[in-house]
Amino acid sequence: MPRIAVFVSGGGSNLQALIDSEVRQHIVLVIADRPAAALQRARDAGIIDTIEFSRKALGKQRLSEEIQKAVEAYRIDLIVLAGYLSIFTEEFSAAWRGKMINIHPALLPRFGGKGMYGHHVHEAVIAAGETESGCTVHFVGEGVDKGEIILQARVPVFEGDTVESLAARVLEEEHKALPEAVLRVMSESR
Ligand code: GAR
Repeated sequence: MPRIAVFVSGGGSNLQALIDSEVRQHIVLVIADRPAAALQRARDAGIIDTIEFSRKALGKQRLSEEIQKAVEAYRIDLIVLAGYLSIFTEEFSAAWRGKMINIHPALLPRFGGKGMYGHHVHEAVIAAGETESGCTVHFVGEGVDKGEIILQARVPVFEGDTVESLAARVLEEEHKALPEAVLRVMSESR
């Protein structure tokens, strides 16, 4: 039975989608890089093992090292980044290649990369006059928002859309795409 760690930085609606799916039985650990509301969702769901690190206090190198220790201790097989905003060291990413997946709120390879997270993504999509956006679940490869795509879901961008209205439309698709992608990855690596 594959053991999953979910990493979060924010509200955790994607974590909730995982908790509400068949993925739940595989989640043995939730890690946050800051005080994230998502941690409460984990505890409410009975996921007792949550760890809150401080990206601010530790910095990138030590945060990656501490996380590596934690995932080793919990014998984690698959890491799911569900709205996780810190960037890992190359060493960490390389160690988890093929075993770490991320969800991004746009149709990669467009609107990805450093600084492209959360509302910044939707702002850029609207500013570019796009008529379509969506979400991408992908393996974490070399570089920010790079790596093999597992699945994408598309939504229209309407005239008059705000960051909030577009974000909500995309998020609804994220909540279906993330559990589906995780289940697919688990079934393929069996
Ligand atoms: C989601 O839209 C996720 O795709 C995005 O942060 C949000 C987290 O929401 N992730 C990124 O931008 C990563 N580059 P949530 O905390 O409610 O799941």
